[in-house]
Amino acid sequence: MTSPSLSARSPHPSVSVVGAGRLGTVIARALRAAGLTTHGPTRRGEPVPAADVTLLCVPDGEIAAMVATLRGPATLIGHTSGATPLGAADFALHPLQTFLGDERPGILHGIGCAVAGRAPDALATATGLADTLGMRPFAVADEHRATYHAAASVASNYLVTLQDAAERLLAPLGLAGDEARAILAPLVRSTVDNWAARGPEAALTGPIARGDEATVRRQRDAVRAHAAELLPLFDALADRTRALAARTAIPTQAAAPVQAPAPAQGRRAS
Ligand SMILES: NC(=O)c1ccc[n+]([C@@H]2O[C@H](COP(=O)([O-])OP(=O)(O)OC[C@H]3O[C@@H](n4cnc5c(N)ncnc54)[C@H](OP(=O)(O)O)[C@@H]3O)[C@@H](O)[C@H]2O)c1
Repeated sequence: MTSPSLSARSPHPSVSVVGAGRLGTVIARALRAAGLTTHGPTRRGEPVPAADVTLLCVPDGEIAAMVATLRGPATLIGHTSGATPLGAADFALHPLQTFLGDERPGILHGIGCAVAGRAPDALATATGLADTLGMRPFAVADEHRATYHAAASVASNYLVTLQDAAERLLAPLGLAGDEARAILAPLVRSTVDNWAARGPEAALTGPIARGDEATVRRQRDAVRAHAAELLPLFDALADRTRALAARTAIPTQAAAPVQAPAPAQGRRAS
């Protein structure tokens, strides 16, 4: 059944936000700030007020059941998951940002927003909402959603995991918590800024970029001695970084190739 054409009905839809978690709290705040009639975010067990649009900000595993429960002729139902296909929802709207719940509406301004729609009118609604909130909508089809979301997780979630590993490696020096993050954060910010402005090849510095495998081996020995649980991660990142460095190697470096890393035997923690 075709859903009602919201975009044709109202350029300023009312929105019912469901799920008072990290994203729902911020989205509802931003919709109000943008001047849209906004209900919620409603919590589990609360009735969902009727609106032109019902926007689900609930865990991915809850989406299908909620769409089935809330389905009615008078509302378009959208979800905000990055990885989840449309399923029975009318549209999807995934802000490409990380939210903890206490952010101000400005966090949405200028960020990307993956949109999808079951029909042109639903896609237009998702695009219109993204525009209204100051985001930059781009289309992601169902078959690419998991890949798209994997990219988002690598860029954001796994970056946090990497910094946690860096913190762990500072612990034996007696640097921990706030102190460790305070000295690491400027390095992380400059690195991200360089990557964003100049691309990965230009942003890469350090021993692997210099072809200094002796230093990488000393680093690896230290990791094995002080944080052996990080060795598989260290080795995987070093291998991937060698591949990146190889993309940028200048001809003289190519003529005198960097010594290959130690043979596979004994490279992994056991
Ligand atoms: N956080 C982000 O950075 C971010 C970014 C982009 C997209 N998203 C998407 O936003 C969605 C929500 O993620 P989140 O990070 O905001 O999760 P979250 O912080 O765990 O919030 C989910 C909220 O949904 C509520 N909920 C669960 N079932 C419900 C129901 N049947 N009725 C009403 N509320 C219900 C939960 O309540 P209870 O606590 O009672 O379970 C919780 O408050 C996901 O699809 C996610 O992919 C999140």
